[in-house]
Amino acid sequence: MDLNNVVIRPAELADTDAIADIYSALWCSWLRRGGFTEDERLVARFNTVMQAQCSPIALVAEVDGKVIAACYVGVYDNGAPRTNPYWQQTYDDLFNQATVRAQTADDNLEGSLFGDSREKATGNRFGASDSPYADGQLNLIIILPEYQGCGLGRRLIEVAREHMRELGCKRFFLMTDNRSDWEFYEHLGMERVAEDHSQDTGDGFIVYIYGDLA
Ligand SMILES: CC(C)(COP(=O)(O)OP(=O)(O)OC[C@H]1O[C@@H](n2cnc3c(N)ncnc32)[C@H](O)[C@@H]1OP(=O)(O)O)[C@@H](O)C(=O)NCCC(=O)NCCS
Repeated sequence: MDLNNVVIRPAELADTDAIADIYSALWCSWLRRGGFTEDERLVARFNTVMQAQCSPIALVAEVDGKVIAACYVGVYDNGAPRTNPYWQQTYDDLFNQATVRAQTADDNLEGSLFGDSREKATGNRFGASDSPYADGQLNLIIILPEYQGCGLGRRLIEVAREHMRELGCKRFFLMTDNRSDWEFYEHLGMERVAEDHSQDTGDGFIVYIYGDLA
């Protein structure tokens, strides 16, 4: 893929399903394998819109009109996360749907529905701390598997940094975990500044927080 052909622009409501499809391709294979199509769709839509709703900067990357990546940036004002009103109504609708579904879901599905929200709550606590990295947060960066490894992740992080600097952030942090591509951030020179083991339910799940200059 030639990065010159990639357009990076604000995410729109009409992109919701395309962005959810990327999330799905990365993290919902167990639902797809089981044939739980409606749950797969709800998990992917709810989690991506949840991140958009707390990201004043929500971007997508597209090639030839096809959305291939999303990158969302959050900002903290005196420790409080700024929201993105454009996504609020869609978030509220999907939150209600996810809450209803969770009432009869097993633990795995409940975790897929609300695990990211719990991780985000951990991020918000970090954002409210006196850490020097608590200015901004890279909330989401996801790239369709067939477009990974072409430099787009690095490019999106550069664009995210530019937006954070424009919003007055000197430093930022991001949350990842030991089941995601955390080595990418170390490769880009970011520093692991905290770990959270509180979501380890015996399965060894660890949340990592990385920080860097904006
Ligand atoms: C992680 C991700 C955003 C990286 O984007 P990408 O477009 O594939 O990465 P790039 O091609 O821009 O790579 C930039 C550099 O990082 C390196 N890199 C990429 N992924 C890496 C990984 N998982 N581990 C170590 N280094 C990695 C590349 O080799 C490249 O190095 P170079 O520029 O020095 O040659 C993308 O692979 C992705 O969406 N992964 C799945 C979702 C995910 O895990 N998101 C992040 C964790 S929450």
